[in-house]
Amino acid sequence: MVSAPVISVRDLGLTFPGKKGAEPIDVLRSINLEITTGEFVCIVGPSGCGKTTFLNIVTGFLRQSTGEVLVQGAPVKGPDPRRIFVFQENGVFPWLTVEQNIAFGIARCPSKEQREIVRRYVRMVGLTGFEKAYPRELSGGMRQRVEIARALAPDPEIIYMDEPFGALDFITRLKMRADLTRIWEKEKKTILFVTHDIEESVQLADRVVVLSPRPGSVRKQVKIDLPRPRDLDSPEYLELRDEIFHTIGMSLRVGAGEEMSAIFP
Ligand SMILES: Nc1ncnc2c1ncn2[C@@H]1O[C@H](COP(=O)(O)OP(=O)(O)OP(=O)(O)O)[C@@H](O)[C@H]1O
Ligand SMILES: [Mg+2]
Repeated sequence: MVSAPVISVRDLGLTFPGKKGAEPIDVLRSINLEITTGEFVCIVGPSGCGKTTFLNIVTGFLRQSTGEVLVQGAPVKGPDPRRIFVFQENGVFPWLTVEQNIAFGIARCPSKEQREIVRRYVRMVGLTGFEKAYPRELSGGMRQRVEIARALAPDPEIIYMDEPFGALDFITRLKMRADLTRIWEKEKKTILFVTHDIEESVQLADRVVVLSPRPGSVRKQVKIDLPRPRDLDSPEYLELRDEIFHTIGMSLRVGAGEEMSAIFP
């Protein structure tokens, strides 16, 4: 049985009016995409191709010029608390402690239930012992964990993430990917995750949607049917990764005794 799409994007386009007589800017053109419940979808594409703009439209922060976005069958009219946005950085409130940040979206729950939810997510993201800490006392990776816990606490149907690990160092990013994978496997949320990091997309997603340069449109969709946690040395992983690199117009070459490097056309 094929489950119904939770998000349907149909013929979506966006043109920004040009400033002071300048030409209008076509940012997105004819995007069609369907995402099913519980699916982990990554959107990749070159810088400036419209990934953030796309997410802003799907979340209801920005209005499209053409086409439509349906979430659970209804057109998106504006932001909805049942769907949560995780930003690249500085999403947490600096004046609140870790546990207050996580409790932010569940203020209406009875306090006993609130405490239980906060405890559960503090544990899930590995921040036990830091409940009373303020964001300034945490590392960048720890702050992103707070943000993920805060996103999960209200039990949203969909989580949108825009380069959430972009500001972290390489090792922390790898760890965060592993943690997010583990959490997603447990919680089975629908995740729409934007990144410009192709490796990241193949490590995380069920499906990678590759956008073309601006005006962004769907150039290719690549199903990542690999068991998790993913073996980054397996030929299947490398093949899918390279397929996406090729689609974007880059090739990865490894010569004898050479370091692997991205070769731009
Ligand atoms: N409010 C706006 N008015 C005019 N042009 C805009 C506006 N917002 C974004 N753009 C343009 O739309 C294009 C897409 O921007 P967007 O931020 O969505 O790209 P992106 O794919 O997220 O890039 P990055 O990978 O660098 O984050 C850019 O060329 C940008 O200049
Ligand atoms: Mg962006």
